[in-house]
Amino acid sequence: MKRNSYKSVPIQSSEITPENIYMNRRLFMKAAGTAGLSTLLAACGVQPSDTSETPSVTEIPATGLEAGAATDELGDPLTSYKDVTNYNNFYEFTTSKTDVASLSKDFVSSPWTIEIGGLVNNPKTYGVDDLLTRFTQEERIYRLRCVEAWSMVIPWTGFELAALLDEVEPLASAKYVAFTSLLDPDQMPGQNSAFYPWPYTEGLRLDEAYHDLTILATGLYGKPMPAPNGAPIRLVVPWKYGFKSIKSIVKIGLTDTQPATLWNTISPREYGFYSNVNPEVNHPRWSQATERRIGETGRRETLMFNGYTEEVADLYAGMSLTSNY
Ligand code: MTE
Repeated sequence: MKRNSYKSVPIQSSEITPENIYMNRRLFMKAAGTAGLSTLLAACGVQPSDTSETPSVTEIPATGLEAGAATDELGDPLTSYKDVTNYNNFYEFTTSKTDVASLSKDFVSSPWTIEIGGLVNNPKTYGVDDLLTRFTQEERIYRLRCVEAWSMVIPWTGFELAALLDEVEPLASAKYVAFTSLLDPDQMPGQNSAFYPWPYTEGLRLDEAYHDLTILATGLYGKPMPAPNGAPIRLVVPWKYGFKSIKSIVKIGLTDTQPATLWNTISPREYGFYSNVNPEVNHPRWSQATERRIGETGRRETLMFNGYTEEVADLYAGMSLTSNY
């Protein structure tokens, strides 16, 4: 399986935490419908001009870090911890971005296991605590670009999905990786909506899953993953629209056919399986040429592959990015 030369710096799990020392040890990444239906599709459907998107204040304690205190490799400042943890898409709780934090404050994410199987030699079930010690945790500062045309810069902690895949040994017949989030309507009130085909599901091609940029994130800003961001573990695929980065994962399965995914099942014309960030392919209901960076005024141009072209373009060589949206 092809790997690229992406580099980041290992962090011992014992080092992960106190936010007051976070800035001292942070490490920079150098490599890099109908009206009714539209409302239900808002996860991925709020219009960029919607002023109700303004982040509100939180119940999650802020770290004390200032936005602007660190940058991504393009020189853009980190989004504040407060905004990262209080402006969320997490439909299992609610379709309101500014209410996820309060509705998820009692979410129980420990103990937690992830089952990984399907077309593998060595299926396994891991406790998340095992994953933290078994795989070296690294910091990755990535841009996150939502299909709704807002974006953030987030310092994740996690490890490459490739390391986990190597342990379970995919069979030669495996071509895709399917991900499933927790199904627990007692804890997640949004799952009482019958409109969505719960549980939330996502998928990647196997080579995308093996790419060095693809991580399973276990924390952000040096803290364990906050509930609104997908505690205790979620996927982060930074060159794709944010909805591909599935939260609160309980199951990973290797398959030989393209797996069904929640958004693609609901509205295939609007949410393709690939969903690579592409300023030249508009969403049927809005432009993808520009975005609103949370914490900034005005708009900025959206970058092809969210700025990760050098790292990922090879994955799609010879493929039409218009028909494979
Ligand atoms: N994962 C699950 N399980 N449920 C969701 O509703 N929303 C997605 C993605 N992962 C979602 C999810 C969308 S649309 C986005 S933009 C990102 O999570 C937002 O991640 P963040 O809240 O950490 O910024």
